[in-house]
Amino acid sequence: MITLHLIRKEHRADVHLTIRIIIILPEDRIILYMLTITIIGSGYVGLITGICLAERGNTVTVVDIDEEKVRVINAGEPPIYEEGLQELLKKHVGVSLHASTSYTSVSESDVIFIAVGTPPLPDGSADLQYIRSAAEQIGIALLEKHVKYPVVVVKSTVPPTTTRDIVCPAVKKHMEEPFGCCMNPEFLREGRAIEDFMHPDRIVIGSDDEEAIAKMKQVYADFDAPILVTSPTAAEMIKYAANAMLATRISFSNEIGNVCKKLGIDVYEVMKGVGLDNRIGPAFLNAGVGFGGSCFPKDVSALASLATSVGIDPILLHSVITVNDNQPSIMMALLEERVHDLADKQIAVLGLAFKDNTDDIRESRALCMIELLREKGARISCYDPMAMEEVKHIFPASQEISYMSSAGDALDGADACLVMTEWPEFEKLDKEFSRMKTQIIIDGRHILNIPHAEGLCW
Ligand code: UGA
Repeated sequence: MITLHLIRKEHRADVHLTIRIIIILPEDRIILYMLTITIIGSGYVGLITGICLAERGNTVTVVDIDEEKVRVINAGEPPIYEEGLQELLKKHVGVSLHASTSYTSVSESDVIFIAVGTPPLPDGSADLQYIRSAAEQIGIALLEKHVKYPVVVVKSTVPPTTTRDIVCPAVKKHMEEPFGCCMNPEFLREGRAIEDFMHPDRIVIGSDDEEAIAKMKQVYADFDAPILVTSPTAAEMIKYAANAMLATRISFSNEIGNVCKKLGIDVYEVMKGVGLDNRIGPAFLNAGVGFGGSCFPKDVSALASLATSVGIDPILLHSVITVNDNQPSIMMALLEERVHDLADKQIAVLGLAFKDNTDDIRESRALCMIELLREKGARISCYDPMAMEEVKHIFPASQEISYMSSAGDALDGADACLVMTEWPEFEKLDKEFSRMKTQIIIDGRHILNIPHAEGLCW
């Protein structure tokens, strides 16, 4: 049986019709296309989730307290750089995606995702104040609910038990009618988030509630990926464990790389041989100056802090962080071996973003390196295809630090060069290096293709 629901919707000035198609298959299996969805938080995770679910045919509202961000999204402009985001916003804003500062859309939503930030507290644990507040406000907004059995879904990365012990009770405090609760972690890489959302390796649905699980399966009905249903606490732990595993692989490769460097071995040859083992695989074994970004450093610390809180000494997780924290100092020691006195020397820093294809500089290794270079009195000439404006807020242009419009200009007259980000355009650099005063080139990302570059740990 196929049922068509025509729903008149009003969103600000727009009035449009949503066609909802329900297909009831034998054995009461229901496929429901076009859900009404609200996402609380329009950061990387919230906005990407929203735009991708709009692309899959749902009607989506993203809610944010930041009025400027809401204005920018409603103007169809991406508030962050993410490959493919601009095109999708153009296609869906004002049609199937709207941004708002108000929670009113919650009352008519089948599914409400919480995708607010969980920044680290001074002890490394996750700050859950925004999660708590979002859950409370959802509960209040649901008092007006017009939908049968709405499902509240935690998308943010949260410590195990948060969904069960904080989010569900906070919604329930205000809502007497039945609703579902679920944890659904994201596995999106910045810069490739749309691709990752549309083509996931797996979808994890953490819930003990059959009705909530069924609705989440409708959300992901169109996705070609295995669905793993777990308890909410296991889903929360899967996210931390997956990030910790990836970070561990990087720190492991870096430690092996540091040993290889001393022995004159190329760690990239070694890791290729290691990764060809089917049980290990090749991903995330690239040695270099270490991991940055808003996820690995924060999530490994949060997991270590969680372990400590339950009486487990997280020896391995602490080591993952220590190895990562040491890589910039190891790069500095190598530079000093080659240049000796860095005072007043010009050092070209190529790459400022924490990785390629993003303007995000959070926990970027380049920032640690710039700090170390400044302590030694070096002059820094930097270049990044996307992230220079962000870095200028931290280190304004001065006598000590200059921002150049190309890698070649940053290299002009330099006494040495450090490569900090794996930007594909650095692969093609060649004759630009002839503009340097001295050809001391240290590659922290194994991206250069010139014979006279020295690898950090190869
Ligand atoms: C990471 C995970 O890859 C995503 O699956 C996860 O969803 C996301 O965190 C998150 O928790 O939201 P992301 O931080 O965007 O994604 O970036 P990655 O591509 O994982 O890179 C992280 C850092 O590791 C970068 O600084 C990169 O340069 C470094 N890296 C990566 C290495 O040093 N070596 C490698 O082999 C791979």
